[in-house]
Amino acid sequence: MSLEAEIQRRRTFAIISHPDAGKTTLTEKLLLFGGAIHVAGAVKSNKIKKTATSDWMEIEKQRGISVATSVMGFEYRDYKINILDTPGHQDFAEDTYRTLTAVDSVIIVVDTAKGVETQTRKLMNVCRMRNTPVMIFVNKMDREGKDPFDLLDELEAELGIGVRPLSWPINQGFSFKGVYNIYQDKLELYTPNKQTISESVQLQNIGSPELDRLVSERDAAKLREDMELIEGVYPAFDIQEYLAGRLAPVFFGSALNTFGVKELLDCFVEIAPSPRPIHTLEREVNPYESNFSGFIFKIHANMDPNHRSCIAFVKICSGKFERNVNYRHVRHNKLMRFSAPTAFMAQKKETVDEAFAGDIVGLPDTGTFKIGDTLTSGEILHFKGLPSFSPEMFNYLENADPMKTKQLEKGINQLMDEGVAQLFVNQFNNRKIVGTVGQLQFEVIQYRLLHEYGAQCRWEPVNLHKACWIESDDPQELENFKKRKAQYMALDKEGRDVFLADSGYVLMMAQQDFQKIRFHFSSEF
Ligand code: G4P
Repeated sequence: MSLEAEIQRRRTFAIISHPDAGKTTLTEKLLLFGGAIHVAGAVKSNKIKKTATSDWMEIEKQRGISVATSVMGFEYRDYKINILDTPGHQDFAEDTYRTLTAVDSVIIVVDTAKGVETQTRKLMNVCRMRNTPVMIFVNKMDREGKDPFDLLDELEAELGIGVRPLSWPINQGFSFKGVYNIYQDKLELYTPNKQTISESVQLQNIGSPELDRLVSERDAAKLREDMELIEGVYPAFDIQEYLAGRLAPVFFGSALNTFGVKELLDCFVEIAPSPRPIHTLEREVNPYESNFSGFIFKIHANMDPNHRSCIAFVKICSGKFERNVNYRHVRHNKLMRFSAPTAFMAQKKETVDEAFAGDIVGLPDTGTFKIGDTLTSGEILHFKGLPSFSPEMFNYLENADPMKTKQLEKGINQLMDEGVAQLFVNQFNNRKIVGTVGQLQFEVIQYRLLHEYGAQCRWEPVNLHKACWIESDDPQELENFKKRKAQYMALDKEGRDVFLADSGYVLMMAQQDFQKIRFHFSSEF
């Protein structure tokens, strides 16, 4: 197959949701369709149990083969699909956001009863920043939930994106009868508790008397009425609007009952984008260029003390990656070759000889990589679009063993390079502040500092609400602001100005009082 055909058939995406909406169940059903797993429960067994454990080692143990579930590749029809896992429950971290910088599109799972929840909203903000195309799957239609029209309004308002139903439910909960598949113009009938593909009926048109026979006269009349309303309210589905990240097609179904999943997948492979051009500081990189380029978006530390190494995950942005070929590590300006790169197929990690733009490759690493590093066939490129995200939890970092100051310094720097958390130095008192988006990261850092670097740290609470990067075209205004907020000014690792707001109100007032200053919630602007 030609390079172009290989890249064209790739679909690299992430499923995002609030915990419990059904992400794991949907992932699993997609893998079943792809023949990547053969029994239901295979993905689930890797999932962190919901018993609200806050013990990080326990979570690592439960995760077991978490490296293998970081990326799940499989073939479906003529497509090569890569699903990137976005850690969710207790292990929600900046990593979760960063994964979204490596995907070409996203499927959002929403619980029909709960609608849009916090975590979905946060992750959607990242998608919006990058204009990532989004599809929505409304799950658990076998249960009572919100009125579908109300839910569409909520999705539009809460996610800040236009919506367009491409399937429509006939009732829900106990009386759920199935969906009308608008995308394929078919009726999909639901049989409760039947873990097989739904029964599809091709109707002449929605007015066909067969519909009355299949779902009852009353439900057929309601469906016709709903469809009329949909066609009246929503413009016809425009794929260009979807690809521009402005319009999300919506499907309804029940992942647990494997209902509506195949329809979602069939539409997904047909309309979701293959790898797209990516911006670098130097130029735009087209995926179909023959030269290889890629960037590191995730570094997974190996928790097994007997195999002390990491895996660096590379998103291939252009061309073809090959085993045992020299590539340039741009930041270090040195050549590197990889004899054991891994790819992730059917939940198994295996050595690969080649991989193409869109794919993710795992490279064994012993501290050479940091998040955002670029590998190329030779050209100097710096990929954009890998920002740090504004953390929401903060602690002062205190050295608990003064004899190990150097080790602490080295350890904390390396962990920050890995993207575990962010370090800020308060310019007023010179104290180090670590910021994260998940509570668990503090435990992770403490544990790893001790076990990998022999350093000990202590956390001291600091009451902060949010960190944001600031800039202004007016240097005087910037100076005034920094003077006024001196106690709350810090520098990040790259030496950029960061304002540490101690409450939402303070942040709002600062934004009002200093109109010439721009406040950014990610480090790239
Ligand atoms: P998550 O990864 O987004 O956190 O969600 P997950 O798939 O684990 O699903 C959360 C719960 O919702 C699970 O139940 C799952 O069985 C259930 N679920 C998923 N899809 C559907 C659906 O279409 N209909 C209904 N009724 N339930 C669904 P659980 O009891 O928490 O876990 P388990 O004991 O079934 O593993």
